[in-house]
Amino acid sequence: MTDYPMLCRQLQALADSERHYVPLLANASALLYETLPDLNWAGFYLVRGDRLVLGPFQGKTACIHIARGKGVCGAAWRDDAVQRVDDVHAFPGHIACDGASNAEIVIPLRQNGRVVGVLDIDSPCLNRFTVQDQAGLEEFARILENAMLLED
Ligand code: SME
Repeated sequence: MTDYPMLCRQLQALADSERHYVPLLANASALLYETLPDLNWAGFYLVRGDRLVLGPFQGKTACIHIARGKGVCGAAWRDDAVQRVDDVHAFPGHIACDGASNAEIVIPLRQNGRVVGVLDIDSPCLNRFTVQDQAGLEEFARILENAMLLED
């Protein structure tokens, strides 16, 4: 089982040395990808106007733009709610960037009361993400929300 308190301490140490969103989210995606077992993608989409734009990630090349409400990421943004999907093939409108994906979790990132992006993690294993993973990843996301500087 993943040691989320340790993972969050590692993320906080990264955030303490650099808050700009590019290095912070790049290292956050690497930390997740190397720490969590059975992943095939971990990264971020950021809100730009009326759509999400691909941000730092680890894994195969991915779709660049996602409209509000589309796919798992767009639903997390529209509803401002975590989407924990046991089987992406049963999720209406799921966007398949990598055919190997079977389960997915998407956590909204908020600043000043608005969703500014999402953390998106994919797995080839059905039912990969538990409620414990969700709680740990929500804590991970809170650290990013508090630290991340989005302006250039
Ligand atoms: N599956 C996502 C699209 C992004 S990729 O997983 C990296 C979705 O349905 O929103």
